[in-house]
Amino acid sequence: MAAAPPSLLSLCLDAVAADLTAGAAGGRRAGGCRRGDFEGVGGEDGEGGHLTIAPEEVADALPWELLHQLASRLPPAALESLHHAAHDRCCPSAATAVGFGVSDCDRRGIKRSRCEDFNTAWQALFRLRWPLYCNAAHDSLVTVDWQQKYWEKHLQECLDEAVESALLPSFYGNIDELTISAKIMGYILHSEDIPQHYSKLSYHCSKFGCYARCLRLQSVLCTAEISALLKCSKLETLMFVRIISELEASGVCMLLSCHAETLLSIEFIHCKLSPAVMDRICNSACQKEPLNHGIQNFSIKSSSICEKSNPLTISAGLLDFLSLGKSLRLLSLSDTKMQPSFAKLIVHTLLESSSGIQTLEITENNIAGWLKTVEKRSVCFSSALESNICLNSLTVLNLRGNNLSNGDIEDLCNVLVKMPDLRDLDISDNPIKDEGIRLLICFISRTFQKEKSLWKFRAENCDLSNIGVTELLKCLSSVSKPLNLLSIADNHLGSSFAAALAEFLGSGVRELNVEDIGLGPLGFQILEEALPSEVALSHINVSKNRGGIRAAHFVSRLIRQAPGLLSVNAGSNLLPPESLEIICNALKPNTCDLERLNLMGNNHLSNAVFPAAQEFRKHGKQILIVPSQQGPCAPYDDDP
Ligand SMILES: *[C@@H]1O[C@H](CO)[C@@H](O)[C@H](O)[C@H]1NC(C)=O
Ligand SMILES: *[C@@H]1O[C@H](CO)[C@@H](O)[C@H](O)[C@H]1NC(C)=O
Ligand SMILES: *[C@@H]1O[C@H](CO)[C@@H](O)[C@H](O)[C@H]1NC(C)=O
Repeated sequence: MAAAPPSLLSLCLDAVAADLTAGAAGGRRAGGCRRGDFEGVGGEDGEGGHLTIAPEEVADALPWELLHQLASRLPPAALESLHHAAHDRCCPSAATAVGFGVSDCDRRGIKRSRCEDFNTAWQALFRLRWPLYCNAAHDSLVTVDWQQKYWEKHLQECLDEAVESALLPSFYGNIDELTISAKIMGYILHSEDIPQHYSKLSYHCSKFGCYARCLRLQSVLCTAEISALLKCSKLETLMFVRIISELEASGVCMLLSCHAETLLSIEFIHCKLSPAVMDRICNSACQKEPLNHGIQNFSIKSSSICEKSNPLTISAGLLDFLSLGKSLRLLSLSDTKMQPSFAKLIVHTLLESSSGIQTLEITENNIAGWLKTVEKRSVCFSSALESNICLNSLTVLNLRGNNLSNGDIEDLCNVLVKMPDLRDLDISDNPIKDEGIRLLICFISRTFQKEKSLWKFRAENCDLSNIGVTELLKCLSSVSKPLNLLSIADNHLGSSFAAALAEFLGSGVRELNVEDIGLGPLGFQILEEALPSEVALSHINVSKNRGGIRAAHFVSRLIRQAPGLLSVNAGSNLLPPESLEIICNALKPNTCDLERLNLMGNNHLSNAVFPAAQEFRKHGKQILIVPSQQGPCAPYDDDP
């Protein structure tokens, strides 16, 4: 079938688009770091002497409707030029305000909204280049500035590519002289001839740096050059990766002090931050007069913050930083080889400074005995613990993987009472045993008498027994305000625990993780038989419990009796092939909200066993996730 012949209008637009595209690819280098202005110079181009139309002329000549049709035909670099020309026409800056253009804004009383209409074109370009990222991150209703997102992500790709070249042993020379690959250049120019200066990293930093709010910078990029190139950016979030040397640390400090006014979030990953370096970093992130900082989130992951030779030295700069920032909301120190005494000092500092912190994470740090350690230096702090000062705003406390034992929990309870608004506590991966959980039960039952009680509680892999956890569930069920989320995964509770669990399912809990607690077939049978007639669950994880066919019966009963159920994970339960039919029979009435039923890791199941299983869908996605026919080793495919 022959396509309809193109209209004269679309031929004209194609011709103008081609001309603007060629102009963008061959134009002259524009200086300065004004937002946008990709090159925007019309007239004779440097090399060929070919005449191209200036974006300004196009923006002036065409009505908005045609400009938008034109926009959808342009590559990013050309759209950038047109966008700025159109923006100047719509909302001239003070310098060009006299004369044309003013009316277009004011007469219609819609100001910039016309220009923002290019947002659709930008979004289409973003989707074209990063199709997966789009769906994952921007399903919400928030208005996204796609032009900003586009160039921010483009710049991040340029930086990441530059790191790869800069890390090669053969690399000498300047970071900013590094060139961007033809592949990336192709995305923005839609052309193979790329003028040399366009492909320099420095060009991209100075051109698109103004769009960057959030950047991830690796070791070699933390230099004075990059800092200078990004000086016009309004950076809000900086993530630093592998900062090891003094030189790199100096680069970090330069970037931080340059952006201290706009920065909201700083993160370090795989870095070596000695106390002296940390002092400098914290100092750089502060604004000087008055001494303060606006950082909301500060996190350090998988990095060392102590010196091997002198592990007890701690950064006074960091403590000052914590006590200074009235804006600090989140502090996360994960896998930092922190000493127990440091952890204690952090809590004391936050208490003393009446911090407004909301989330405190000290995880993977082996701080056993932290609250016991009384050192000379911290004597003056002990008053904070004994006084009435509270961390009134703290709602999330995560102490995962710190090798805390039951003795530590006793001391922890003295700190927990200073967190009256705590809603979310994670104590997982600490060997606290039943003695530890009993101490926490005392604390938890007290919080339930308050206005705001505990909402989420995780005690995974804590060496708990059936006895201790049964006591916990009794406490949790006895109160009027139900816990929203409970995870007791990876504790060996056994089948005899099932009766208490079934009763607890009637408490109103929404999210439950009982992965790998040794329920076995008997446990699932008890659960099924004792399941309350109405269960409020939304999410449950019963994976790795070796339940066999009884697990399938439990799941099908649960689907019938939990009308709000959204997701079930019954993976790795040795389900036999006939399980699929049992579960699908429960799904058939199709009255439930279930979106996802994960049955991975049950090697006797596959799509082939019961083909009807594939027909159950919610929002276009398959509900049942079963191992594929290739066998147990096939990769886990989330998005069919
Ligand atoms: C800080 O962290 C919180 C929790 O992870 C997040 O919701 C928030 O967006 C972050 N803020 C900034 C400025 O990055
Ligand atoms: C955990 O803490 C105990 C003291 O409570 C200590 O003896 C043990 O070595 C620590 N474990 C690890 C892995 O460091
Ligand atoms: C549930 O189980 C799976 C293993 O099958 C695990 O990877 C996942 O993290 C668990 N979900 C939650 C919410 O902990």
